[in-house]
Amino acid sequence: MSRISGPRQGGSVETARFDIAVRLAWDWNVPINSSRPWWQHSVCYQIYVRSFADGNGDGVGDVAGIEQRLPYLADLGIDSVWITPFYTSPQLDHGYDVSDYRDVDPLFGSLADFDSMLGRAHALDIRVIVDLVPNHTSSEHPWFTAALASAPGSRERERYVFRDGSGRGGAKPPNNWRSIFGGPAWTRVDGGHVDDDGPGQWYLHLFDASQPDLNWWNPEVGDEFESILRFWLDRGVDGFRIDVAHGLYKPNDLVDKKRGDRAPMPMWDQPEVHEVYRRWHKILEEYDGQRMAVAEAWTDTPESMARYIRADELQQAFNFHWLSAKWSAAAFRDVVTETLAAVSLVDATATWVLSNHDVVRHVTRYGGGDKGLARAKAAVLMMLGLPGSAYIYQGEELGLEQVAVLPEHREDPTYFRSGEVGRDGCRVPIPWSGSEPPYGFGPGDAQPWLPQPAEWKDLTVEAQEADPDSTLHFYRKVLATRREVTTGISDEVTVLGSAPGTLALRRGDALVCIINCGSRPAKVPAEAGRLVISSGPMHGNGTLPPDTAAWFATA
Ligand code: NOJ
Repeated sequence: MSRISGPRQGGSVETARFDIAVRLAWDWNVPINSSRPWWQHSVCYQIYVRSFADGNGDGVGDVAGIEQRLPYLADLGIDSVWITPFYTSPQLDHGYDVSDYRDVDPLFGSLADFDSMLGRAHALDIRVIVDLVPNHTSSEHPWFTAALASAPGSRERERYVFRDGSGRGGAKPPNNWRSIFGGPAWTRVDGGHVDDDGPGQWYLHLFDASQPDLNWWNPEVGDEFESILRFWLDRGVDGFRIDVAHGLYKPNDLVDKKRGDRAPMPMWDQPEVHEVYRRWHKILEEYDGQRMAVAEAWTDTPESMARYIRADELQQAFNFHWLSAKWSAAAFRDVVTETLAAVSLVDATATWVLSNHDVVRHVTRYGGGDKGLARAKAAVLMMLGLPGSAYIYQGEELGLEQVAVLPEHREDPTYFRSGEVGRDGCRVPIPWSGSEPPYGFGPGDAQPWLPQPAEWKDLTVEAQEADPDSTLHFYRKVLATRREVTTGISDEVTVLGSAPGTLALRRGDALVCIINCGSRPAKVPAEAGRLVISSGPMHGNGTLPPDTAAWFATA
């Protein structure tokens, strides 16, 4: 599907890795398929449920709030939404700690609210992707409470990763693995089960201690998740975002992690995970309407990412290499060429993303302030010109920056386990209207669960609606233009020779996308064609200002 070829003139320095990418791309003559599945070129809007819109006025976003704001999303021009977990949960990791996978947490509404929101989304032509959390449950899940009440070796304990400790009396964790959120990845059961009068076994949690890892070697676990998939597919969801998709299987010997940043990570990306996705692929195919799943898989290379989207596995995998690239034309070029080469190997399309609820918002990553915003708009314009699908994170269409959340307001378990600032700063509730918090987040005056900054008064949806030069209008225009000029065009990408500090890509023979990451205005290649859209003001004399991207139509 996606294809990549090299620069037609020797203008820019190409790396050895790029040569490999070009050699790997063999499918030059694949015809453009006008009946491609919807998810291959869609734009999905990520809703972090507790921070999007509050329908009942308790200061926490909910499903009714999402439904009320669907017309806003339809106007924005997205194709689908991904909603982060809204299932029953003690909320110790804001829903990524699920205690009942088949119900809606009362904090967010009810199953009836969900059905109503789903129906309204479909009526507006918006597909709905829900989050599935298969790596771990909440420690309040009935399976885990049963495991705690049962003896070592019992069927109940076999659903999780329980082990005896090492050292004298089993007082040390079974291995040296660390939690992603900080601290050891093991917690010892105190007492344990009814007949146990001493400290007991340890259980594995790659995240918070309230998120025990499931034992995917146990077929009962796989059966349960297939049933959960069907539960939501039967309700009509269009797809799933698979949390920690690369994590499910841990080697049975639980070998220690070797020291050093580059040492292999025994807990991630084990070959057995792919068998799970082959089974899920078959289930998705049983349903009509092109149901899909997107992997959250933090893998080492584009090639290992692409293994999750082989023809008989999942449909999309987030390209976190794009999100992690620094502000540099060379870095962007390497990611684009390596990604397109990797996905073409498995005949799949790429899935681009710049921000989500786990990372610092990209306006801030690119330097913050006016410069950060200019770069963020340039990067998103470049991203949306690339072949494949893209995800945008709520609030990026308003140009929101990361917020410095004070320690007393922080809720992210990362902060409590590691002392690091954590992820709350990208999760501050959306400002909709008005000149002071809660900025129309809910129907009344209840302050949202995280405080919103005073500067956001100029960034509300209402304020930006009224300003034709706002970031919101820019996103609407880009999404509308994308629909108009990229629908059905070739996925073949050619890297053009271009000025230092810039990256110029030609898509088929229809579109040229250029980004200037350098510090000087750069000449636009002569072959670029007619200007279609730019992320900032253009210079009249055929040059692209720094921190700006533009699309040109070659026809
Ligand atoms: C990835 C999710 O995006 C993140 O928010 C969560 O904390 C971890 N997985 C654990 O579920």
